[in-house]
Amino acid sequence: MDLKGTQTLEHLKEAYAREAQANIRYHFSARLADTLARPEVAQVLRAAADEERGHAFGFLDLLVEHGARVPEIVAAKLEDNLEASVEAELHEFTELYTRYAEVAIQEGFPEIARWFLELAKAGATHALWLQQCLDGLKS
Ligand SMILES: [Fe+2]
Repeated sequence: MDLKGTQTLEHLKEAYAREAQANIRYHFSARLADTLARPEVAQVLRAAADEERGHAFGFLDLLVEHGARVPEIVAAKLEDNLEASVEAELHEFTELYTRYAEVAIQEGFPEIARWFLELAKAGATHALWLQQCLDGLKS
């Protein structure tokens, strides 16, 4: 059955985002536990983070298996994922993060602006790497 237009499609997308964010949050928290010299807490958090990553993969697998057309999140083919990723990286560094940096400066947050601009640079590099992978697959 086609997921298009269903609530289940929206739920899969949202749940994927939650699991992916939990993965990073647990790693962040594990780092805090490290600074507090609580290795047992850090270990639990890193184990939980690994599980969350597995959960996030599970949602991506379901989206792909059900033929969901969500190129901004995932696609079945490697080439399509690379292509969408190049596009996303380019968008981040040419538009989004440069604009976010400008707003941050206007609002008095130069250090936040610097981080956006730094990531914009990384986005350009990533776009190049991914494009080279894509070109390699096509040749
Ligand atoms: Fe989970």
